[in-house]
Amino acid sequence: MRIVESVAEFKQLRSAWGDQHLTVALVPTMGALHAGHLSLLGPAREADRRVVSIFVNPTQFGPHEDLQRYPRPLEQDLSLLESRGVDAVFLPSASEIYPDGYRTFVTVDELSSRLCGVSRPGHFRGVATVVLKLFNIVRPYRAVFGQKDAQQTVILRRMVRDLELDVELIVQPIVREADGLALSSRNQYLNPEERRGATVLFRSLEFAQQASLQGESSTGALLRGVRELIESEPLARLDYAEIVSTDDLSTLDEVTAQALLALAVFIGRTRLIDNTVLLKCPIDSGLSPG
Ligand code: PAJ
Repeated sequence: MRIVESVAEFKQLRSAWGDQHLTVALVPTMGALHAGHLSLLGPAREADRRVVSIFVNPTQFGPHEDLQRYPRPLEQDLSLLESRGVDAVFLPSASEIYPDGYRTFVTVDELSSRLCGVSRPGHFRGVATVVLKLFNIVRPYRAVFGQKDAQQTVILRRMVRDLELDVELIVQPIVREADGLALSSRNQYLNPEERRGATVLFRSLEFAQQASLQGESSTGALLRGVRELIESEPLARLDYAEIVSTDDLSTLDEVTAQALLALAVFIGRTRLIDNTVLLKCPIDSGLSPG
């Protein structure tokens, strides 16, 4: 497995692969890898070469967020990737990606200011910018992302479409712990009591999923139930709970086929996100109840 720290060296490797007509898939990450990240390697296997980037991207962190604290277990990450047959890890420093005088940023308008964009202004500008840069350096035909960061995938799809990027985005399902908590590098911040309280996110998603399957289609009613559940957990503080269209993240009054329930909840000082695409009551969706 090649470990490449400089943009110039990665570009050299990439052109050597290009000379051999090899296809390349990319899995962008910020490291502290867990089974959710590793699940993204599945669709990357179809490429001739698999690249994982590990870069804790400073431009997607707000001034009071956890950039300094973000876990960086590099040796462990590298051995996981090596054992999974990854061909190259791109591991740039911040100054390699944003050298002195760096001035160019990508903003995906409107989509970036909703949901997480309200409490994390600038976050998706940082994400879109670094992902476009990674695409230009790695030149993958396919890049794999997780549904865990649903808004991120909607924004990146829009960027790919709007800027005519020749890259196929694949989105993989959320990998969860046995009790439903979505795997996240930030789960490490939780103490045992907070870890137990953190299951309130999944319990809320399940509640809404059940209610929707039983015929509740008013998003107002579903969200009231979700908020009540979250308020009932003493360690939890709701940042937002919204039901939006998966196309453009616009607010929905009724559950449609593409309704995304997205949550952000503080558990103690740790902000966690989770989401589910709501399934509709079979009668509502026109299927015979049998
Ligand atoms: P990071 O949080 O490290 O996540 C890297 C990828 O792993 C993302 O596509 C994310 O959605 C996916 N992922 C995380 N937890 C997951 C889970 N439990 N199940 C499935 N997939 C999961 O997202 C980022 O990094 C950054 O914003 C990045 C795209 C790398 C740009 O800096």
